[in-house]
Amino acid sequence: MEFKTPQGIRIAYRDQGPQTAPAVVFLHGFPFNQSMWDAERSLLSKDFRVITYDHRGHGQSDVAGGQYLIELLVDDLIALLDHLKVQKAILCGLSMGGYVTLRAVERNPERVSALVLCDTRAEADSNEAKVKRAAGVRTVKEKGVPAFAEGFLKAIFAPETFSKNPEAVSKIKKAIEANSAEGIAGTLISLAARTDTTAALPNIKVPTLILVGAKDAITPLAASEALHKGIPGSQMEIIPGAAHMSNLENPAAFQKALTTFLKTL
Ligand code: MLT
Repeated sequence: MEFKTPQGIRIAYRDQGPQTAPAVVFLHGFPFNQSMWDAERSLLSKDFRVITYDHRGHGQSDVAGGQYLIELLVDDLIALLDHLKVQKAILCGLSMGGYVTLRAVERNPERVSALVLCDTRAEADSNEAKVKRAAGVRTVKEKGVPAFAEGFLKAIFAPETFSKNPEAVSKIKKAIEANSAEGIAGTLISLAARTDTTAALPNIKVPTLILVGAKDAITPLAASEALHKGIPGSQMEIIPGAAHMSNLENPAAFQKALTTFLKTL
């Protein structure tokens, strides 16, 4: 399904499960699409209203000019909640999905009932990270999306995932390669320009679960520990055998932690 935001951007989404059940919105990472949450949708849509969507510049949503800010991705999330008449939702975001989630709860706390923060961080990009984003923009513009995907896949998956779970790697490869160079470059710039949400962490008053792959090199354990320290009453679980794509690399451990948390709400 799709809808148009007040900014005129077409956002593709799926809305499954009982409409009266608590809503869980899943926010995908960069530069994937909502298909990364297929297993969670199947698992939860008997008991929850499960909403997934493609961020602008990703999947089936509009590329919309290719100039983005995380703030605008939060606008899209709020527009989606308004469109679906969801007053409050449980937000579950991985990596960039977590950056959007953290800014959304800072800006619109009244729309959030609980948080699941996966393989993400509150800190903004360091200078070094910004320079790396520029290298990514160069790669995608000069060499194309498949060349960008190749390097990116090596950074996000644990080395053993390539042999133990090649389906997860090919699913994400397909998702990355289906995105446009314009969408990827624009999102890299929005990641480099994002705000730091660290100072707002103590204001988070909703139940929060933090999940991180034990081998995550992009948003390492220390980043999750900082979230755990900053968010009062939060819980944290380390997903063994996973790197950055914890829900795909160790689905059993990820889903157990997620469902156990959701049952407590
Ligand atoms: C993601 O998975 O969303 C990205 O790796 C986030 C990032 O590069 O900061």
